[in-house]
Amino acid sequence: MSTLQQKIDRTIAVLQQAAREYSPVAFANSLGAEDMVLTDLIAKHQPDIGMFSLDTGRLPQETYDLMHKLSARYTLPLQVYFPASELVEDYVSRHGMNGFYDSVENRKGCCFVRKVEPLKRALTGKKAWITGMRREQAVTRGGLEMSSYDADNGMFKFNPLLDWTNADVWEYIKTNDVPFNALHDQFYPSIGCAPCTRAITPGEDIRAGRWWWEDPHHKECGLHAGKSTPLTKILVPSL
Ligand code: ADX
Ligand code: SF4
Repeated sequence: MSTLQQKIDRTIAVLQQAAREYSPVAFANSLGAEDMVLTDLIAKHQPDIGMFSLDTGRLPQETYDLMHKLSARYTLPLQVYFPASELVEDYVSRHGMNGFYDSVENRKGCCFVRKVEPLKRALTGKKAWITGMRREQAVTRGGLEMSSYDADNGMFKFNPLLDWTNADVWEYIKTNDVPFNALHDQFYPSIGCAPCTRAITPGEDIRAGRWWWEDPHHKECGLHAGKSTPLTKILVPSL
């Protein structure tokens, strides 16, 4: 089992490799705890990595507060992408303002309009993107690779925190005094849009508060749904 310091060193090595070999590379920052760790590591070790956030229009106030804090703390620019207004207007006219509660299909439709389509714009012209996903987060993420070819977006994808535990993330945040979302202190370990995220109770899975009315096997929003071919052995032979 690697120590936290070994994981940090490996994460920095992956960020450096991504920037060196896949420039321009962009980091998708949801402002969740993992992404705040990556923000801090990128600011300290590879600040030329571009950073963007998808503002769905339905984020909790606490996430906007953290966005504001992030800009005060780090000099890294955070580019914010919004959904296309005509797509949101069309979705709302067909399904209603909270139509995402009606079916998995309607929920995925909302995620498409508010996240997936803006992601495509955010990734235009990039050679690779970086996420803060971890294997232990969800049943849908057990097979995550450090690096893979993301066929949906036609570029490489890096998940440099894949083997970090929740405890590793929080140890890093506390030790480095990294700002974090105030909702994490109110039993929200995983935070997305306000209407689709609730607090969990002790013992519940860390993503139990996301789309809590759905089966865990459906709980992806489409940002990470595509087919990926692992590149681990080619890119990071020591892993
Ligand atoms: S997800 O189901 O919403 O995608 P999660 O919140 O666990 O799950 O996020 C996983 C990763 O997807 C994040 O680490 C981040 O890289 C990316 N991501 C998710 N939401 C956003 C967002 N609103 N803006 C930018 N990146 C995001
Ligand atoms: Fe819509 Fe909920 Fe998906 Fe946000 S998480 S885009 S509100 S369905």
